[in-house]
Amino acid sequence: MDHLALDQAARAILRKNDRGGYTLPTSGLYPYQWNWDSAFAAWGFAQFDIERAWLELTTLFSGQWPNGMLPHILFHKPDPGYFPGPDVWGTEGKGPIPSSGISQPPVAATFARMIYDKNPDAGRNPMAALFPKLVAWHRWFMRWRNADGMIFITHPWEGGRDNAPDWDSAMQAIDPVGVGDYTRRDTAHVDASMRPTKDDYDRYIWLVQRARGLGWDDAAVAQDQPFKVADPLMTFVLLRANRDLAALADALGEDRAELDQWTAELTAGAEKLRNTAGVFDGFNLNAGHHTGSVSNASFLCWYGHLDSAQMLDELHQAFDQCRYPVPSQKVGSDWFNAKRYWRGPTWGIVNMLIGLGLADMGHKAEAEELRARTAALMAEHGFAEYYDPLTGDPAGGGSFTWTAAVWLAWASPSNGGA
Ligand code: GLC
Repeated sequence: MDHLALDQAARAILRKNDRGGYTLPTSGLYPYQWNWDSAFAAWGFAQFDIERAWLELTTLFSGQWPNGMLPHILFHKPDPGYFPGPDVWGTEGKGPIPSSGISQPPVAATFARMIYDKNPDAGRNPMAALFPKLVAWHRWFMRWRNADGMIFITHPWEGGRDNAPDWDSAMQAIDPVGVGDYTRRDTAHVDASMRPTKDDYDRYIWLVQRARGLGWDDAAVAQDQPFKVADPLMTFVLLRANRDLAALADALGEDRAELDQWTAELTAGAEKLRNTAGVFDGFNLNAGHHTGSVSNASFLCWYGHLDSAQMLDELHQAFDQCRYPVPSQKVGSDWFNAKRYWRGPTWGIVNMLIGLGLADMGHKAEAEELRARTAALMAEHGFAEYYDPLTGDPAGGGSFTWTAAVWLAWASPSNGGA
């Protein structure tokens, strides 16, 4: 298939997963609206239907809680084929529509800015309506997920990288006693070897039950949850999103002082995520140590506008080791597993964020190399959820919304790449 036919196929995936106002990540495995998936979807739609792009973000923010938290899943319509559904989360009365009780990486302001810049006339009204909601969401992070400028998560799902090795030590410290019986649905759709293990799942559910027991109270969860890990992805993503929100404040004639203060605080905080080897990785706040993992999130430093010769060297190693970088865990590390979700596979969305950061920071050759290899991966292996970084084998769900969006908005040669 040539790249124009692939553009066509990617647009068809977005249309097929469109449920009228919001887009499913993929039907079957993920039958609801997911937070950061929708922001990527909006950026994909913006390449051919700008109104639909704004609608995606507007629908996402229709689920925002009064405290500013934007949930990671919005359960618009019941679907018994998914676990854990609204009955497990128990968030009744917390938000305007049924939802989970945790958030997800705040990429939305960055994509809102890019969509706005594409067509400021079409964007003025929806952007003006979204602006205070984005500020409220970022304020929620700064208040309840902020450890001295490092953004932490209280559940592995909040960070969007469910079973990353960055969480291992915090997960091992949990004894999921009393979690009870439950039936997973994910392994009915995808081979279990590509998904988190039963040990992980018991702890995921136990953490949900525990936060529910705390009434989803922000202060109680932030203080008492046994899982608290500062995350390079969350920190770099919020840092970048704050800058973008400040640029939008200028465009809309809004005040940016609070946003600039957050940007300064997060820039200082991100430095603390650099471990003794010079790599940005997770920091287990309860135990007080770094995790020592080189993940694809480590390479988001440029996206947050922090440079690092050490990380550039790591990137060159990843290019040498993998035909289809960037692996979610360094090849050769004890944790590496080419097929298991966030412990090795390559994810198109993270590649795009890394590529945008590299280009911003003047590493043009690396940015172009990453884009070209990601394009080859998708052209040869389809629009999968994630891929084996060595062979390119597709893994997880197929016809995946955010992968198609990444093709349209970044990887496709239609965007001017080689
Ligand atoms: C998985 C991913 C998460 C994503 C969701 C829907 O849970 O780890 O990042 O948002 O699937 O695609």
